[in-house]
Amino acid sequence: MDEQQAAARLAELRREIAHHDYRYYVLDDPEIADVEYDRLFRELLDLEERFPHLITEDSPSRRVGGEPLAGFAEVVHPFPMYSLDNVFDEAELTAFDRKVRRYLQREEAVAYVAEPKLDGLAVELIYEKGLLVQGSTRGNGEVGEDITAQLRTVQSIPLRLRESNAAPLPDQLVVRGEVYFPLAGFAELNRQRQEQGAPLFANPRNAAAGSLRQLDPRITARRPLAFFAYGVGDVSVLAVARQSDLLARLKQLGFRVNPFCRRCERVEQVVAHHGFLLDRRHSLEYEIDGMVVKVDDLKLQARLGTTTRAPRWAVAWKFPATQVSTRIEAVEFQVGRTGAVTPVALLEPVNVDGVMVRRATLHNRDEIKRKDLRIGDRVLIRRAGDVIPEVIKPVVEVRTGEEKPIRFPEDCPACGHVLVRPENEAVTRCVNAHCPAQRLQNLIYFAGKTGLDIEGLGKKNMEQLVAAGLVKDLPDIFRLKVSDLARLDGWGEKSAENAVRAIRAAARPTLSRFIQALGIRYVGEVNATLLARRFRTLEKLTAASLEDLFEIEGIGEQAAASLVDYFADEAVQEMLDRLRAAGVEIVPENVTEKGLADRVFLFTGTLESMSRNEAKQRVKALGAQVVSGLSRRVTDLVAGAKAGSKLTRGRELGIRILTEEEFRALLDGVKEGT
Ligand code: IVH
Repeated sequence: MDEQQAAARLAELRREIAHHDYRYYVLDDPEIADVEYDRLFRELLDLEERFPHLITEDSPSRRVGGEPLAGFAEVVHPFPMYSLDNVFDEAELTAFDRKVRRYLQREEAVAYVAEPKLDGLAVELIYEKGLLVQGSTRGNGEVGEDITAQLRTVQSIPLRLRESNAAPLPDQLVVRGEVYFPLAGFAELNRQRQEQGAPLFANPRNAAAGSLRQLDPRITARRPLAFFAYGVGDVSVLAVARQSDLLARLKQLGFRVNPFCRRCERVEQVVAHHGFLLDRRHSLEYEIDGMVVKVDDLKLQARLGTTTRAPRWAVAWKFPATQVSTRIEAVEFQVGRTGAVTPVALLEPVNVDGVMVRRATLHNRDEIKRKDLRIGDRVLIRRAGDVIPEVIKPVVEVRTGEEKPIRFPEDCPACGHVLVRPENEAVTRCVNAHCPAQRLQNLIYFAGKTGLDIEGLGKKNMEQLVAAGLVKDLPDIFRLKVSDLARLDGWGEKSAENAVRAIRAAARPTLSRFIQALGIRYVGEVNATLLARRFRTLEKLTAASLEDLFEIEGIGEQAAASLVDYFADEAVQEMLDRLRAAGVEIVPENVTEKGLADRVFLFTGTLESMSRNEAKQRVKALGAQVVSGLSRRVTDLVAGAKAGSKLTRGRELGIRILTEEEFRALLDGVKEGT
């Protein structure tokens, strides 16, 4: 066989194998026997071995996984990957439907598509001229990780889109869907791991995540991951008018689409489908944790638009959390960052939805009393999503009389200081400013995800550093040396160097980030942003009076009082001085290049909280354009009070309409410099 013949035969084999993959993985309806398929595949491999330069990116042989990667590169999603708002019952679902119709100013029913909410990992696949060129994780919705090599190994992800006479392929297609770990494969994987003495995966979702996050794609290739497509980044490139058509088109293009997606003419059918899925939930070959409800008509979707975090045209209706029973073996009292003492039940370990649960929060003293919980009680517990498990109630019928009352301590279990319970508060607190437990929690918070997010200084490591006496307060973090860390248990030269590098990078936070990281009571992300905007520098903020703080819209009384108290503390002032001395430098807040670039704003009506001029300046500063005439170019129409014909016309054109409140939320939500 000469090269030309080989090339032709290879092309034929690739096409045939892709076709049979489609029959098998997508339609679940194979046309040929496994041995025949294997023969085709072996022929392909043989030919590719003889003519390696004829191997193409979309060859099915490429699914076995290439060379290990050094790390995951970041990718910016061409369109943000939003998350979903949740509803939990029928009443909330009908409220969602009402809101949709009110927004659209529409009396008649809106049709929806109800889809299983797959409990896996959201991924994005980019196809250029039909070829898979990039695959990534959701990440924070704006930026994810490049896992192209790993996703290529997933059999039900097409390496090339199927062409049909029906419609041309778009130049670029961004497909979104869920990668999951089928239950049978999951059980088998854990069985093997148990045999090998490897740690088990807590649930299929973690197993899917763990498999995709393998730097070595050959390991991913050995895991039986599967994929369902449920959306695209930009629907305008496909000639479809409805979500239900989109799903059908995705199937034509070669994707698996979940067979339990239903178009529902009315919201009542949505409710019925929820019942249907709930009944089948445990007989499917994959986990679902609810149902996603989407407005079917894509024009209506466009009119509804999105808020900063989620589309207005879709909602997730979560299934109720599973409840199981176990026993309270003991109760521990934990001291939090702000001194709050939380009772935690230590449970006889129990499996809830695939996760081993050993502890559950009892919230506070009143909750224990209200539920009449005792040590030794058999109790019902529930785990809802990622939320900490909760004890619902004791099973009083099976009490033996041996159960012991839960005694709330009088003194702080960490420092022995007497505990206080302020009037009108449910929380009991340790008010000792030097309490070691509070200090530890504060350090963990400061370096943690919502704080400066210092990689390598998570909870466990911080506990270790504190126990070793290397870190007593915040400034100590910035004085850590590689040699200090490298000699600790479980650390090496390399991890120590990485941690010190991460600390150095974290030493230049923006003001809002820094304020948030301090963990001042009542001052979370939103307030930190407001404060940073108003004061610009830490010096000005620390000098602010109660009156100054009251003036800021959005800062409540409690937050203002808490801030003044915090900065009035000499120990705090001294600590801030030492942070500066240790090299911490606050950098100006600036907007990422992206900001609101590529958005075009038009204002109509009167804004109450700022002048039109200010509003224009604010969006321009974030890179947006402002225009005064309505056209299709406009991406965002901000409608204040007494908005008139522009608003009506904007709605007709399907332009995203923002109320003043939403506009403010948008300004607050646009990412600040990192
Ligand atoms: S649509 C803008 N459809 O749920 C629409 N999401 O809470 C966002 N998910 O990150 C996604 N099944 O991982 C959609 N049929 C489905 C889904 C689904 C599961 C997940 C997805 C997303 C999360 C949102």
